[in-house]
Amino acid sequence: MTEQPMLRVRHRGPSPEQRRLRIILAIVAAGVVAALVVTLFLVFAPRDGAPVAAPSDSPTPSATPTPTPTPTPTPTFPMDLYSIDDPTSIWVVVNKQRPLNPQGYAPADLIGLSFVEGGQMRAEAAGQVEALADQFTAETGLQFRTISSYRSYGRQVDVYNGWVSRLGQEAADLTSARPGFSEHQTGLVIDFGAVPAQCDLDQCFADTTQGSWLATNAWQYGFVLRYPNGYTDITGYEFEPWHYRYVGVELATEMHDTGVQTLEEFFGLPAAPTY
Ligand code: DAL
Ligand code: ZN
Repeated sequence: MTEQPMLRVRHRGPSPEQRRLRIILAIVAAGVVAALVVTLFLVFAPRDGAPVAAPSDSPTPSATPTPTPTPTPTPTFPMDLYSIDDPTSIWVVVNKQRPLNPQGYAPADLIGLSFVEGGQMRAEAAGQVEALADQFTAETGLQFRTISSYRSYGRQVDVYNGWVSRLGQEAADLTSARPGFSEHQTGLVIDFGAVPAQCDLDQCFADTTQGSWLATNAWQYGFVLRYPNGYTDITGYEFEPWHYRYVGVELATEMHDTGVQTLEEFFGLPAAPTY
């Protein structure tokens, strides 16, 4: 009888236990890959598409984007070129929350204005006022007057007390600064008047040839309308279409181009409606 060779299986298929193990490993691997894909999507997708949580003042992605509510300086503007605290700086911001420091500050470079009623301003501002007035006269044949320009601390005491006697303190505080809080003391301010006198220190000055020319052109000479109409909650004062503040051509041009109306908004300072 022929001896039957022993049945030896060299390659058996995986055992049921091995098959189960492989299936479990495959499921786990698929889960890991899926988790990785989801994680990568969550990390990178928001940056490429619409923001997941847009800042409240960012325009929402839609066919008609909402306009930015408050204009801001251009990102490249040198916001710290000059001090806003130093009273000798052409960018100093003086308001009911920001008195002059020192309170009795007096500029060292005051010069007389050549206008009929005179007055004094710091040299750079005075030169620009003269140039502005020459241009106005060349264009219109008319002239400006200076109603008020530099005022010392002592002079502001008299001016403020005069308004309080006339209007009472609450109303006076909307039109006249308390001593030590007036930017007239910086020597960088002028209150313009018309020739012949018309609407002196009155809001109707805005409608005179002088008032409307200033509103359009003063920025080209470095002046800003410091107390614009509708900004009392920020500046602390009612509309003064005669009161112009010299800040230099660079800043006045930037505020004109960006539509920012007040120094407080431009420099991101708190509103100053009260003392
Ligand atoms: N009229 C402005 C506010 C002043 O007195 O300085
Ligand atoms: Zn003034």
